[in-house]
Amino acid sequence: MKSKSILVTGSSGLIGSEVVAYFAANAWQVHGVDNNMRADFFGPQGDTRWNLSRLQQTYPSFTHHELDIRDRAGVQRLVGEVRPAAIVHAAAQPSHDLAATRAFDDFDVNAVGTLNFLEAMRRACPEAPFVYMSTNKVYGDAPNEIPLRELEWRWDYADPEFENGIRETFRIDQSKHSIFGASKVAADVMVQEYGRYFGMPTCCLRGGCLTGPNHSGVELHGFLSYLIKCNLEGRTYRIFGYKGKQVRDNIHSYDVARFIDRFIDAPRQGEVYNLGGGRANSVSILEAFKLIESVSGTPMRYEYVDRNRIGDHMCYISNLDKMRRHYPGWDITKDLKTTFVEICSAWNKRAAA
Ligand SMILES: NC(=O)c1ccc[n+]([C@@H]2O[C@H](COP(=O)([O-])OP(=O)(O)OC[C@H]3O[C@@H](n4cnc5c(N)ncnc54)[C@H](O)[C@@H]3O)[C@@H](O)[C@H]2O)c1
Repeated sequence: MKSKSILVTGSSGLIGSEVVAYFAANAWQVHGVDNNMRADFFGPQGDTRWNLSRLQQTYPSFTHHELDIRDRAGVQRLVGEVRPAAIVHAAAQPSHDLAATRAFDDFDVNAVGTLNFLEAMRRACPEAPFVYMSTNKVYGDAPNEIPLRELEWRWDYADPEFENGIRETFRIDQSKHSIFGASKVAADVMVQEYGRYFGMPTCCLRGGCLTGPNHSGVELHGFLSYLIKCNLEGRTYRIFGYKGKQVRDNIHSYDVARFIDRFIDAPRQGEVYNLGGGRANSVSILEAFKLIESVSGTPMRYEYVDRNRIGDHMCYISNLDKMRRHYPGWDITKDLKTTFVEICSAWNKRAAA
């Protein structure tokens, strides 16, 4: 029997490469799309070619396509040729801060690039599940309106309504998103619309902090990957505002791939899910320092900049109830400590190579 094929955009990035590995290991033909634009966005530190080589050497069923997702005709040609049984769209300009200096590139990649794939899929294979990597920045800075309490090492929600985190019903407009957040909102709503209007099996995964050993972490994107890299190299990490007590919930890319697999197996139309590590995998910057010091044995060097990033969340924890309810059996399998250890050893291995 011919194996099914899946198309993965952003395949040399953190999430894309994890999805490639996951589906290739499960006997799918995997087509990846990436043009290494991360290196253009972030310079040599963001270069993803090492990850592409790793995938090509490890998975014979993986085919790489050097394609810019802004190339509408090229996207239509590729989707028409491959006619994938599913698509995972993870290519993006992923940084809040960078977007402000490259507004056209940000919107063309994030919003228009997503529309290019939605429309190509509608024409060639509308029945194929379409998974879009959205972001919790679609909620803008509205989560900062939730009353907080200050603890010794972190901010936390003071309102018991949010004890288990933020739900998908949280409002997405009338707040400050960053230019990045706004382009992702455009794509997120369009992905929902192709589900509702055209009946396509689409979903938006509104990521908190997605992390894992194969991130090319840089200061502007890849929170834990970059923080751990700084620790290992003895570099100074800069904390931007909020006393270093800002909280992120972190999910390992493997658990993201497992959820995507479940959705593709039993898709729904126009769904949204908040996808993060939940309360159990939440950590503040100061807490992350303590954890990495305990893993690596190296003290963290840092400086404090008394200015928060524009629109940055003070405390963001994803409520995972809807994911668990729709896909029973799926849950987080990698806790924070495991994830730290994996990222640590991946950076050490890459440094040695
Ligand atoms: N990592 C996180 O913490 C996080 C959090 C929330 C949402 N997300 C979303 O998840 C998705 C994946 O994030 P990631 O961390 O894997 O990012 P990443 O930067 O590691 O991967 C994205 C990949 O897309 C490629 N790319 C960018 N522009 C392209 C273009 N024009 N054509 C072809 N390829 C292009 C890049 O080269 C890169 O390899 C993104 O949509 C991001 O917004 C990530």
